[in-house]
Amino acid sequence: MPTRRNFLRGAGAATALAGVETVGSPLTAAALVGDETRRQPYARRVDARDKVRGAVRYGADQAPARLTHAVPVVATIGKGRVVEFDTAAAEAVPGVRLVLTHIPAGELRSAPFIMAGGFAVQGYQPMTSDRVAYRGQMIALVVADTLIAATEAAALVTARYETEPFAVTLDADGAETLVQATVNPRFPDTVMGDADAAYAASPVKLDATYDGPPQHTMPIELLASTVEWQGENLIVHESTQNANAVRHGVAYSLGISADRVEVVSPSAGGAFGQKNSFQLHLGPLALAARRVGRPVKLVIPRTQTFHAGSFRPASRQRIRLGADRTGRMLAAIHEIDAQTSRFDLFPMQYTELTGRMYDIPDFRGRHQLVRTDAQTPGYMRAPFEHIAAFALESSVDELAHQLGRDPVALRLANDAPTTDPISGHPFTSRHLAECLRRGADRFGWVDRRPGAGSMRAKDGTLIGWGVAAGAYKAATAPATAVLRAESLGRRRCRVTITVDGHEMGQGIRTAITNLITANLGVAAQDVVVVVGDTRGAPPQHGTAGSWGTATALPAIDAAMVRLRQQLGLRPSGPVDLPAAMAGRAPVELQARTKAPGQPDDVWDRVAAGGAAGAGPEYPAFTSMSYIAHFVEVRIEPRIRRIRVPRVVSVADCGRVASPVTAVSQVRGGVIWGIGATLREGSEVDPRFGGFLSASLEDYAIPVNADIGDIDVSLIDKPDPVLNSVGVKSLGEVSMVGVAPAIANAIWHATGRRVRRLPIRIEDVI
Ligand code: MOS
Repeated sequence: MPTRRNFLRGAGAATALAGVETVGSPLTAAALVGDETRRQPYARRVDARDKVRGAVRYGADQAPARLTHAVPVVATIGKGRVVEFDTAAAEAVPGVRLVLTHIPAGELRSAPFIMAGGFAVQGYQPMTSDRVAYRGQMIALVVADTLIAATEAAALVTARYETEPFAVTLDADGAETLVQATVNPRFPDTVMGDADAAYAASPVKLDATYDGPPQHTMPIELLASTVEWQGENLIVHESTQNANAVRHGVAYSLGISADRVEVVSPSAGGAFGQKNSFQLHLGPLALAARRVGRPVKLVIPRTQTFHAGSFRPASRQRIRLGADRTGRMLAAIHEIDAQTSRFDLFPMQYTELTGRMYDIPDFRGRHQLVRTDAQTPGYMRAPFEHIAAFALESSVDELAHQLGRDPVALRLANDAPTTDPISGHPFTSRHLAECLRRGADRFGWVDRRPGAGSMRAKDGTLIGWGVAAGAYKAATAPATAVLRAESLGRRRCRVTITVDGHEMGQGIRTAITNLITANLGVAAQDVVVVVGDTRGAPPQHGTAGSWGTATALPAIDAAMVRLRQQLGLRPSGPVDLPAAMAGRAPVELQARTKAPGQPDDVWDRVAAGGAAGAGPEYPAFTSMSYIAHFVEVRIEPRIRRIRVPRVVSVADCGRVASPVTAVSQVRGGVIWGIGATLREGSEVDPRFGGFLSASLEDYAIPVNADIGDIDVSLIDKPDPVLNSVGVKSLGEVSMVGVAPAIANAIWHATGRRVRRLPIRIEDVI
């Protein structure tokens, strides 16, 4: 268990500076930025101390004077309309100030869907008509002096409905299937060569269908906002990944200027895609605050987030894989049906992974959107890649077994080390083979016996070893960094960085702090990082798609180059900023960067609150991050309970900007992968609509007892092309491939090939 030992040694060696934990480099010394500055201590987690003390303020921690509390009322039918409300009993509860039902036209309008050029989590705003588009949709909002009164009153609001037929599963009557390339030409199918002919001619063929359930993002921190009108201006405290979309979305919805809205989101308690856009509770909440003339706080209850939050849609994938008798992959056909809502076309990109994971010359992808009566699905960590890898990497395992080849060797033989098969352009860097080799080594793969059911413990426990690979785009978004340096005397200089980015637990403050301390010779406790705050700051473009580090760091790097120029310091290598700034007036400057190939008017798009991420394909190259997972499962011989005692994961994310939080990201992605494979499945009943297992009692996520040893290792080779700092992506790739690695291990233990998630005891009896 090298990871755990290292972790403990690191913690033991920590020395406390004021408010910052720093330590030498027990994990990866090479992770530091700037070769000559490796002696600088780096920050483990700059916000750790504040977090454990409860000093970090989240959206729902705000308690302005005269605060009131809101609780939503949600629809209890699958689809239809509200004919009549009875709010008398609710209004009679002492302390109730407002029961908001239909919002009159002109007071609130739907902001467009973020992936249709807008801001919102979906393009349909509840409460602006009598319509109930899906079970669990918000239909009213109660505001009271206390949370207890608001909760009691919300339970007393009754509605009389007229119901309509609805469809909530992929195969239901009334579910409408659309070919994405036709209805949303911005997302054409990936086609290379003639996959159908090459598949037909392949001597070895695999053809299988894989089912993925709807799954729901469950960050510890709930969706929550505290809103306050200060005269004509609206202040929103909300944990978000996209303060700018929240700002512009609520302004658009209310018909006011975005200049009158400020969004404050210094930290989010987990987000994972669920908090990447303007949420639909915010418009009604802002109107409620205006009506009651007081600040209002709303925390969406956990059970309601199953319908208020975006989710991973139900999916069905058919993969056909053709190979020659040596195991050389010749053709792949990947067809995906996945769920969307009635009102939005959630753009699918599953074949971004399958088309470029291996060197497969003939490839055809096809995406179909299935309209159902649910809220719009969204980007839940590794939204497409986790699902696509489950299908592809299970098939590759089957291919290895059919041909009697080792699954690691088969993958290495089909690697596409230098060239992206889709675009024909070079990869900026690709160390997948090294991930596989190092992972095999650390796991002890050499001792694996190939046959299914060939490894057993003395007590009869079935043991299975599985491997799978993963990839994820190395995306980038435009960023503006404002750097302010202020002398605090001969030996200290405060550097304040305001940059677009959001801290949601992934450690962006730590990554930024490390870059600055290593580059400028300032101490970690003298670095102040401002992110997720629209007040007087550059536009806070969304932080998603694992592009946060590769977006913020290059802009800061450019600002530091400018600072060195302005102060007459050497352009590279170590400098002593405290000495250079001693006796000088504070310096403030700014720099901005954008993704390779983005046009200059991308800045206007960012300023207007739009999404402007780019990648993995850039004009001259393609950039991806990679991972290999090795998993051991143990299955009890009689009750067939599946456990995962041991995982080895090796990731290539370019330069490691923050060793401690990077390793933690991977560990979190693996844990989520275990949950997504063995626990998380949202139950849908065609008779009722909506999601029925809408609580953490019924929607099981992993607990500590489900998690064994996770050994994380990072390749840590800077990407030489993508950006000046050499960083790629990490948060999402960490989860990609966990599901097939577990499924492959289950096959190895039992001989059962399970192609439906989550995998349960009944699948291996
Ligand atoms: Mo991520 S699922 O793009 O926040």
